[in-house]
Amino acid sequence: MMQRIILDVDTGLDDAVALILAAGSDTIQIEGVVATSGNMGLERTLENTLNVCEVLGIQAPVFAGEAHPLVRELVHAGDFHGKSGLDGPVFAPRKNQQVQTKQGVQFIIDTILANPGQIVLVPTGPLTDIALAMQKEPRVAKLVKQIVLMGGSFIGGNVTKEAEFNAYADPEAAQIVFSSGADLVMFPLDCTTKVTLSDVQLDRYKTFKGEGASLFCACMKTYMDNYQRQGKGFPVMHDPLCVAYVIDPRRFTLTRHEVSVELEQDETYGKTIRGKDCETGGVLVANHADTDFFWEEMDKALKNLH
Ligand code: BDR
Ligand code: CA
Repeated sequence: MMQRIILDVDTGLDDAVALILAAGSDTIQIEGVVATSGNMGLERTLENTLNVCEVLGIQAPVFAGEAHPLVRELVHAGDFHGKSGLDGPVFAPRKNQQVQTKQGVQFIIDTILANPGQIVLVPTGPLTDIALAMQKEPRVAKLVKQIVLMGGSFIGGNVTKEAEFNAYADPEAAQIVFSSGADLVMFPLDCTTKVTLSDVQLDRYKTFKGEGASLFCACMKTYMDNYQRQGKGFPVMHDPLCVAYVIDPRRFTLTRHEVSVELEQDETYGKTIRGKDCETGGVLVANHADTDFFWEEMDKALKNLH
């Protein structure tokens, strides 16, 4: 069955891989892409998103999301994505993609209301746009088919000792989403850090032909260099795991429990907290991915994008 998705991204090197996987998948139909502030400011993430969509031939419209978190001051990711937020690929001037005039949050609301139970939201940045859509139109939480998001951690943080970047960059938004009652699937660091790209794999992808593969390799070379320079090992495939889940949820191990976010503005700000286990409701939290499946889907997507 075709899955109709809206991606909300802060492109970002691994966000770009999420876009590649979605664009190249036979079972995913991209309804729209919203760029949000996160890894870098909105101006940069929007530009990066438009460029990536153009190169991949994504026909779906691209929208600007929010430039500022709900409450906290703006924070950007450290040194993983480079100065532009997407260092590595060089883009030609765009011929097709340009930002739509409608606001990203309004696009999310309108699309979900017009297609009840049909649209999967895939946020791979801070949750500002999703929280605002829920605040402006409370029916969004019930009418969205599912939200499959990258964010949070129960094994310690990657930006502070306790907090993962997407949760830390807008904790209040994350709390709204986690308590919304929507059908939620969460990819925390617990799961994503188990899926990394090795240098052998990257060398293999360099032999692939086509725009998708060139973009993938240009992004992943920078990502790899930045991880290695910081002594962080091999680069983590955080964001594309959400897309892989939409392609085939059976390839993941998950547990269902409540999740809340630390909103006290101290050293725990943005930490995701594991609440009680539940049979229904709460959040379906990924803790393990079938990595062979993930890379097989990447291969297929890159071949389709040739
Ligand atoms: C998340 O932070 C961003 O830098 C990545 O794109 C990913 O969405 C990982 O913590
Ligand atoms: Ca991201």
